[in-house]
Amino acid sequence: MSHESTDRRTVLRAAGVLGVGVAGAGSLAACGSSASGESAAPGARGTSATSSTGSVVKVADVPVGGGIILADELVVTQPTPGMFKAFSATCTHKQCTVSKVESGQIVCSCHGSHFDITTGAPTAESPAKAPLGSRTATVSGATITIT
Ligand code: FES
Repeated sequence: MSHESTDRRTVLRAAGVLGVGVAGAGSLAACGSSASGESAAPGARGTSATSSTGSVVKVADVPVGGGIILADELVVTQPTPGMFKAFSATCTHKQCTVSKVESGQIVCSCHGSHFDITTGAPTAESPAKAPLGSRTATVSGATITIT
């Protein structure tokens, strides 16, 4: 692993810790959704809160055909309207945190792995050979709880 990716992971972990601390008082930097189905910006982090039952995110923050990466090492996607999926954000190649969701895929920029937003499975040409860890996304009104 390169020094650069280690530094990036350290920063992301720090952001995750901050996100958990800030979540109870409000939110971390907001991540808007876009009509294109992609994250608002590569590397952008979604807003979530952590409750006793799991991480909570707003339905409106998860774009159709795309998804968001949460500060607490989770990815939430909406492959089709009303279908929500959740995965670990830890890449199964060498454990970098995935960096963005674009063109219907979850992308790890460390070595170029791409994962399907519906199944978490890596594309055939990805260095990662195992799917992202699956999590449960439960919708209740305007929020999604990930466990
Ligand atoms: S850690 Fe190598 S592609 Fe993600």
